[in-house]
Amino acid sequence: MSAEQDPINRFSLSFPGLPANVSFARATVAAFAAQVDQFTLEDLEDIRIAVSEAVSNAVIHAYPQSVGPVEVEVALFPDRLEIKVVDHGRGIPDVEQAKTPTFTTLPGERMGLGLTFVQTYMDEVTISSRPGMGTTVWMVKKLPGTLANGGGGIGTAVGRPAP
Ligand SMILES: Nc1ncnc2c1ncn2[C@@H]1O[C@H](COP(=O)(O)OP(=O)(O)OP(=O)(O)O)[C@@H](O)[C@H]1O
Ligand SMILES: [Mg+2]
Repeated sequence: MSAEQDPINRFSLSFPGLPANVSFARATVAAFAAQVDQFTLEDLEDIRIAVSEAVSNAVIHAYPQSVGPVEVEVALFPDRLEIKVVDHGRGIPDVEQAKTPTFTTLPGERMGLGLTFVQTYMDEVTISSRPGMGTTVWMVKKLPGTLANGGGGIGTAVGRPAP
């Protein structure tokens, strides 16, 4: 395993968990991700969906009776984009169960597919949660064509003089 590197670029957002901020977070992360030439339009759409689902969950489930704080942290590394969505809400008692397709605590209202989409559209996903303390959804989209994934990488495209 390689040593932990510093990101090439990063940003963080913090906002109240209002429904209007779901599309704000989705568009902002996608605009940041668009600086990565290797990402295809499909990759950017995957990222949009995953951010949307994770932030929606924070808005709907973490703070069911109130509006609480949500943070989104994004870091670009030579071979991957890492995205963390953090809330300090009620937490998930059983994360494995929550990840199961169609599991929802709001049956009849929700489909229970958000976390399934997150896992489908991102390359790595880790959900950590403590009841009463909050939830962190950490997800990674690998850059296509990087060394770790069989090719060049952003480090080979940025900051090098043309041959
Ligand atoms: N941030 C969170 N805080 C508390 N509970 C959560 C959080 N995210 C997910 N959950 C729990 O995990 C369950 C499954 O989440 P998932 O996103 O897969 O489905 P859903 O939100 O219920 O439905 P859908 O995403 O299809 O609208 C939720 O019903 C909720 O109980
Ligand atoms: Mg959901």
